[in-house]
This record gives sequence, C-alpha cells and structure tokens, in this order.
Amino acid sequence: MQGVTVVGHPLVQHKLTLMREKNRSTKGFRQLLNEIGMLLLYEVTRDLPLEEVEIETPLARMQAPQLAGKKLVLAPILRAGVGFLDGMLGLVPSARVAHIGLYRDPETLSAVEYYFKAPSDLGDRLVLVLDPMLATGHSAVAAVDRLKERGARDLRMVCLLAAPEGIRHLRDIHPDVPVWTAAIDERLNDHGYIVPGLGDAGDRMFGTR
Ligand code: URA
Repeated sequence: MQGVTVVGHPLVQHKLTLMREKNRSTKGFRQLLNEIGMLLLYEVTRDLPLEEVEIETPLARMQAPQLAGKKLVLAPILRAGVGFLDGMLGLVPSARVAHIGLYRDPETLSAVEYYFKAPSDLGDRLVLVLDPMLATGHSAVAAVDRLKERGARDLRMVCLLAAPEGIRHLRDIHPDVPVWTAAIDERLNDHGYIVPGLGDAGDRMFGTR
C-alpha cells in the first residue's frame, strides 16, 4: 500500500506476537508496548535531517552530525496512544507532547473530541500521531484534522496494528500523512475491532477490562 510502511523487523514482530496473546499480563503488555514504541520510533525517524555542528572531543575538534530543526511532537490520541509515550520519550526525551482526547461513540464508531492541548508552533515541527490501533480510522482522521487546523503540516501516523479499512480512510482523507505500523490485519468486525488484532488496547495496557 502506498504511503504505508510495515515495520517487519524481527524484534517488532516477535514482541507483537507476545502482545496479541490473550493471557499476557497488563504489566507485560505495557512493557512490550513501550519496547515496540521505541523500535517504531527508530524507523519513523530514519530520514530526519541532520546538520553538521562543531564539537570538541577530548582529542580534537570535529564536525559532527546532530538533528536539525525543532524538536518533534509526539501526539498521542487518548487514551491508548499514551501507551507509546514512555518508550518513545525514552528515545527522544526532548520531544514535545500534544494530547488529543478522542473517544469512539459505541453506536456510530465516530470520534468525539473531549480534550486538545498542543504546542503553539506545530507548523515548524514534525508531528507523530500515536494510536496503537488504526481501526476505522475515524479517530486518526479527527486527530489529524485538528492538528492541521492548529497549523501542523508535516505529520506521520504511528500505530501498532492497522486494519485495511482504517488505512484506506486515513489515506483517502489525508494522503499527505504516511503511516507506520507493525502489521496490517485482516479486517474489522461489526464492533469496529481489528481481527485477529489484540483486543482493546486501552483496556489491556491500563488493566481496565
Ligand atoms: N481499538 C482497540 O483498542 N482495539 C481494536 O481492535 C480496535 C480499536
């Protein structure tokens, strides 16, 4: 699929399989999500621009590469997107964080916004929208709509699992937003859950089942 990167790294695939298992503990699920979050972030940031700066090692002065531009923004969609934060902030501790509160209306499966707080200069930064499950795509579209309204121009979607329907919906409405995922599953069921999937990611990471 165009604009979609499936991160097939063996560590990611192995950890995803562990997360799918229904008897995985809350602690184990959360820890694996942190670890996969780090690995996905590593892939998503692979092409970030670098600039040369002059530094001094104990032996000599040298030109060395560092990340160019402003710090990136991690934009988790509440609540499940928060599960990616700890791992990703471990890798990019200076990243900014934008919180986007959306829940799925259980009847219509559409996204309802209840909270939004983001840095004011989104237009100058790469924004990574985080949601472990790209299911119908309604929440992802609503989050990207809102971030674009607030000035974001360079966005990427990061998820753990995606349904073909969700990818299509997001890419139809926001073709400029590429997607990174660890896997694309078969389909959505009648309740909007990804099959085979891993169940409700929020409940599993927060132990609220
Ligand atoms: N959200 C989840 O947590 N799981 C799904 O399968 C779909 C949406």
